[in-house]
Amino acid sequence: MNKLTDTKINIRRLGKTLGLICNIAELVFILLTVAGILAAFTSLFYPDAISHLNRLFSQNSVYRLLLHFAGLTQMEPRYAAAIGCTVTAITFGVLLLFTRIFKRMLLRLISSEKPFTLETASAVRKYSLFILILLLYNPVIAVILFLMAYLFSYLVKYGALIQQKADETSRIQGEMIVSFAEITENKSGQTGQHIRRVAEYTKVLARELGFSPEETENIGLASTMHDIGKLMIPSEILDKPGKLTDAEYGIIKTHPTYGGQLLENVEGDIIRLARTIALEHHERPDGRGYPGALKGEEISLEGRIVAVADVYDALTSRRSYKEAWTEDKAFQEIVKGSGTQFDPRVVHAFQTAYPEIRHIQQQYRDA
Ligand SMILES: [Fe+2]
Ligand SMILES: [Fe+2]
Repeated sequence: MNKLTDTKINIRRLGKTLGLICNIAELVFILLTVAGILAAFTSLFYPDAISHLNRLFSQNSVYRLLLHFAGLTQMEPRYAAAIGCTVTAITFGVLLLFTRIFKRMLLRLISSEKPFTLETASAVRKYSLFILILLLYNPVIAVILFLMAYLFSYLVKYGALIQQKADETSRIQGEMIVSFAEITENKSGQTGQHIRRVAEYTKVLARELGFSPEETENIGLASTMHDIGKLMIPSEILDKPGKLTDAEYGIIKTHPTYGGQLLENVEGDIIRLARTIALEHHERPDGRGYPGALKGEEISLEGRIVAVADVYDALTSRRSYKEAWTEDKAFQEIVKGSGTQFDPRVVHAFQTAYPEIRHIQQQYRDA
């Protein structure tokens, strides 16, 4: 698991804990609001309870202001106490509202794939103004919380700007990967849109197997470099019409290893994934694949996914040495390979998503 996924999991965990605290706070504020209303009635009918009730609202700034400036001191104690309790109840009601708004904002933040956006930053800034409602209760706490929330809104804005830069960098990285993949495609004697179709099939299968939208995009992008090792194979062999000799086939079979070597020293999560895929897309769960003769789970799930996408596309495409198979025949071939050539889980996903795969096939048909 990479650091980014780790951090996201930690954010979700912390967010859930904070959400739980918000739920408890909500319950407490509901109880306090109800208690305030009940206390207001109690003070009217049981004047003896006033000294106890005083403790409940003595913290309330609005009540203190009322006491000093609105002449509550001259009022009959039970009426003054009733007003004090009502003001306290209203304050807790406002706090309840504030907690609800905060919880909603928090849930929005932790549930989004990219929490740092300029919209989130301006929402945090807007919501931070609500904190000023706390002035009713305690001005010091209100000012401190307001400044903290305001600072947080700027941190979110900073994060959003960094996120924009990162998005731009990965967009450029993506375009470079696709261009590089297209060079490979031209060189490798495959016609038309093989790489694009394999990437799209891969994305459908990854999504079907439960990868997140971001992971699905990355696997699709990384899959475009699956045959990058073919850059090292002589064109005469790649473009040879008709059957290859055993020696020539042996040379072709070195392309996953070359692919792995080409991408070995390049940094980045997607490139690392691309390297795994380049190395493992000709492996088979029964151990009869190449170059590592890996078995079952020794092959990465991404490698097993691209294997199905690549073979299905190779079968349904025309190559210099063969005609295109019909879709039905290719479909049957993939199903037949379940458990031997292909991972049964991936084949199952392929069967489930087959209508979508056919649609992609039509969409990116070779010219
Ligand atoms: Fe390949
Ligand atoms: Fe391929």
